[in-house]
Amino acid sequence: MATIRVSQAQQWFLGVLAITVVLILVYSSRYGGTHRREPKPPPINPDPDPRKKVTVTFWGRNGNHMFEYSTLIGAAKRSNMTPILVESTTIWNMFKLPIQKGTVENLETFRRYKEQLPSGWCNMTEDLDTSQGAYLMGYLQSWRYFENVRLELRKKHFVFHDHLKKSAMDYINNVRKEHKKQDAVLVAVHVRRGDFVRQKRKGYTVAPIPYFYRAMNYYRKKYKNVLFILCSNDVIWSMDNLDDSPDVHYSHNTDGYLDFAIMASCDHMIMSAGSYSWWAGYLTGGDVIYYHGYPQPNTVMGNNTIRKDYYPPWWIPL
Ligand SMILES: *[C@@H]1O[C@H](CO)[C@@H](O)[C@H](O)[C@H]1NC(C)=O
Ligand SMILES: *[C@@H]1O[C@H](CO)[C@@H](O)[C@H](O)[C@H]1NC(C)=O
Repeated sequence: MATIRVSQAQQWFLGVLAITVVLILVYSSRYGGTHRREPKPPPINPDPDPRKKVTVTFWGRNGNHMFEYSTLIGAAKRSNMTPILVESTTIWNMFKLPIQKGTVENLETFRRYKEQLPSGWCNMTEDLDTSQGAYLMGYLQSWRYFENVRLELRKKHFVFHDHLKKSAMDYINNVRKEHKKQDAVLVAVHVRRGDFVRQKRKGYTVAPIPYFYRAMNYYRKKYKNVLFILCSNDVIWSMDNLDDSPDVHYSHNTDGYLDFAIMASCDHMIMSAGSYSWWAGYLTGGDVIYYHGYPQPNTVMGNNTIRKDYYPPWWIPL
């Protein structure tokens, strides 16, 4: 009779189970079901970075782009905004910039900040209106726009692509060997001629020959064991006119990016006029000598430049 008892127990169990299942179904269709059909409340913060964005125009060439980029990074940091690049820049060819191209929803709604002078500082980026996007416009050629991020720019932003860095270091090591100057202090000399020679009227003065002799002697006196690496867009003129002492090496590279990486990898700098030279000097992080006669006063360039904004005060005019 045990089998009958078991089957009765089974029937009782199945009955309870069926009732439970029905109750669950009824409950979930009434409450759970309707619950599920209700629209979800919108997420409180859909943007993972709620900060307003700041962007910049890219005018001019590589050296100009570096000023514009740096001003963007300085301003973003100061005002706690997110820097974003809406325009392409050729400096991606040189550096592993941590910022890629991005998009913004409506650039027209961004508040525009326009510089007063291409090579002077104004206080427009000191205190950006953080209730809306900001759009910085100009050449922005002043160290004062990005003094708050000086080290960051050199260590985190203007980091050369590996192949460029390697080519520059290989080049430098070969020059050291060739001149038997393994331990010398490296000084880059940039001699910019070419286009600048033809634009004197605008105030693009070319540094004269004695400037280079004075500057090189300054470094020989200060560091004793030095090796100069001279880069120019007119090497023939440079070799004909400048110092050919054994501590001077003339670069015959035709690749402007490589020359720039070599100069920036030196310890110190002797500048020519122009933003390409300016940035090579800034990136060395060492002493920088510039020609005091650039730009010439009372010319277009002269009138557009505030010297104390353009040249950092710790650089050396000669
Ligand atoms: C910027 O300079 C102007 C005068 O040129 C001044 O009125 C303004 O208060 C300054 N703004 C900031 C943020 O310092
Ligand atoms: C430069 O500025 C001075 C003084 O304001 C003016 O007299 C001169 O004409 C300007 N020169 C040029 C080339 O713009």
